[in-house]
Amino acid sequence: MQPISFAAMQDHITRKERDISKLFSPIKLRDVTVRNRLFVSPMCQYSAEDGCPTNWHLVHLGSRASGGAGLVMTEAAAVSPEGRISPWDAGIWNDDQADAFRPITDFIRSEGATPAIQLAHAGRKASASQPWTGSKLLSEDEGGWQSVGPSDLPFSEDLSIPRPLTTDEIGELVVSWKSAAERSLVAGFDVIELHFAHGYLAHEFLSPISNSRDDEYGGTLENRARFPLEIARAVRDVWPDHLPLFVRISATEYVEGGWDIDDAVTFCGRLKDAGVDLIDASSGGNSPAQTLTPFTGYQVPFAAAIREQAKIATGAVGMITEAQQAEDILESGQADAIFMGRELLRNPYWPLYAAAELGDKVDYWPVQYQRAAVYPHG
Ligand SMILES: Cc1cc2nc3c(=O)[nH]c(=O)nc-3n(C[C@H](O)[C@H](O)[C@H](O)COP(=O)(O)O)c2cc1C
Repeated sequence: MQPISFAAMQDHITRKERDISKLFSPIKLRDVTVRNRLFVSPMCQYSAEDGCPTNWHLVHLGSRASGGAGLVMTEAAAVSPEGRISPWDAGIWNDDQADAFRPITDFIRSEGATPAIQLAHAGRKASASQPWTGSKLLSEDEGGWQSVGPSDLPFSEDLSIPRPLTTDEIGELVVSWKSAAERSLVAGFDVIELHFAHGYLAHEFLSPISNSRDDEYGGTLENRARFPLEIARAVRDVWPDHLPLFVRISATEYVEGGWDIDDAVTFCGRLKDAGVDLIDASSGGNSPAQTLTPFTGYQVPFAAAIREQAKIATGAVGMITEAQQAEDILESGQADAIFMGRELLRNPYWPLYAAAELGDKVDYWPVQYQRAAVYPHG
């Protein structure tokens, strides 16, 4: 099964001909048809036990599926124990964790949504407490561990100096990502997203501000991209041909001399060649010196640039909170899907309201809630 070509996705059908908004029209990625283009953005809940998702995750992710999202993505799930941001992160480095995800993927699917998992390694930003206790560095006595990274460059004074990975360890980590992908299939996921953004391990390798290696994994863009591309190829190798693979990147890091949108476009072209189907275009997170004041839709131009220049499907994310705003981003061809984070934390039923607002009579109000259903006027 060949992936659907990017060109074939460029429909130029108007709203009138389609009789439904672009936001609520299905999207086909390889053999997976997602019921609409509103995707739940990955969001850490810091509520896992030994890497296993809990009842909290079932209710949290399940509510967003009942709420009408097309695709429901888990939080960053670590591919190895030291790849967690905090001891309370979800993981998928063992079979117990895969088993614990199974009821969650079953429920998401039973609600008509597509279950997706984000695979991650926190690198030098690991071993921290939960945000509500200050995201502080945890000592080994407090349940923390030695972080690793491309080089011995810390993210900030508040986090530890990472231990540089040896080339053998880099090879072992590629296997960890691959095994995590195999377990994701057993756990019932239809989509994998590789977390290569926000200053975590893969991003740390990509960026010249966190990678000062002088071996084949550092220096030129080609060398800095080697480890992330090895991960992408290894995962694609075991992830079935009929299932889509996404990558989240930071399209820029807002630091003079750092990773920028031109690097990102080049890298996304390589990811496409490695069999990646969609780029989830985020930004920042690799330096406390980043200069950014987020504003409505601030990352949309990155999704548009990558889509246009690397010719790969993209997802737009970041302060997208209005139905018409989301629709305009899709209709103008800046992105193929919308990832939504905090607005869906505020209101898991946002997609059902958005459909009504856009004049779409979607048929997936939960039957149990039909007496409360809100449909378009007229
Ligand atoms: C509570 C919380 C946890 C998050 N955890 C993750 C994560 O696990 N992986 C990730 O790539 N981004 C994570 N993010 C970033 C979101 O996925 C999203 O990109 C960001 O919140 C911007 O989108 P929004 O303005 O719609 O919230 C998190 C954001 C929040 C608010």
